Amino acid sequence: MIKEVETFELNQVKHIILVASGKGGVGKSTVAAHLALSLAQKGFRIGLLDADIHGPSVPTLFGLESERPLSEEINGETRIVPFEKCGLRIMSLGFFFKPEQAVLWRGPMVTKALKQMMTETNWGDLDYLIVDTPPGTGDVHITLVQQFHVDGVVIVTTPQKMALADVQKAMSMFREPHINIPILAVVENMSWFTPEKHQDERYYLFGQGGGAELCKHFGVSNLIQIPTNEQLCRDSDEGNTEKALENASLRRSFEELIKTLPK
Ligand SMILES: Nc1ncnc2c1ncn2[C@@H]1O[C@H](COP(=O)(O)OP(=O)(O)OP(=O)(O)O)[C@@H](O)[C@H]1O
Ligand SMILES: [Mg+2]
Repeated sequence: MIKEVETFELNQVKHIILVASGKGGVGKSTVAAHLALSLAQKGFRIGLLDADIHGPSVPTLFGLESERPLSEEINGETRIVPFEKCGLRIMSLGFFFKPEQAVLWRGPMVTKALKQMMTETNWGDLDYLIVDTPPGTGDVHITLVQQFHVDGVVIVTTPQKMALADVQKAMSMFREPHINIPILAVVENMSWFTPEKHQDERYYLFGQGGGAELCKHFGVSNLIQIPTNEQLCRDSDEGNTEKALENASLRRSFEELIKTLPK
């Protein structure tokens, strides 16, 4: 007998948006954080969930590594209180472990923890819950797409061929007929590098055309390119993620990305 998969409604959340890629290190967490910040700066009510259980980055991106969440009782139920920072409500499994601690969990534990963070966090009313996912297409993705109503996915890649094969696998997964999550945009991150003193020059450090190739192959019409930006990397490491959005070109890229989200 086939067991029905249990599904969950997040009644106070209008849209759930995943940020995903088959590939590691391409900038998923960076894109998820800046997308969330850009939306919050526009006045939307935003939650940011770090679903990368084995390699959470969101606590670092927001300088919250040493924080531990509190819980509260609401109508007799225990709820986790998300951190409020830069206008976002932030939750990460990273908050429950020491940064250097390895999480040695098998699939069922990962799934349980993720469901708990999704359903037991006191998100309040949200316009968008942005979910930063781990590399690949594993338990986290399967749980999210099967057990929650996901409105769309933003795919992140870098331009080189080595990234594309893995990213294609993730895109194919979202296109599977029984999954069928709209691919809202392809973000080609680290598309080029422009030295500060030579603003009219572009160096294509990781090749060119990867994002466009993915868009063409999967019929996605929204390609957003983000250049390599030293300041962004520094600000992220220092937990000052929001500072990077002072850069006009970066802000514009995220404004374009916002336009691709469901209203
Ligand atoms: N456009 C960019 N310019 C400069 N540095 C960037 C850019 N995008 C991301 N980075 C840096 O690249 C590194 C990897 O980014 P990030 O952690 O967002 O990738 P990821 O895909 O989430 O990685 P993982 O697969 O490990 O979760 C980080 O140090 C980040 O600051
Ligand atoms: Mg990440």
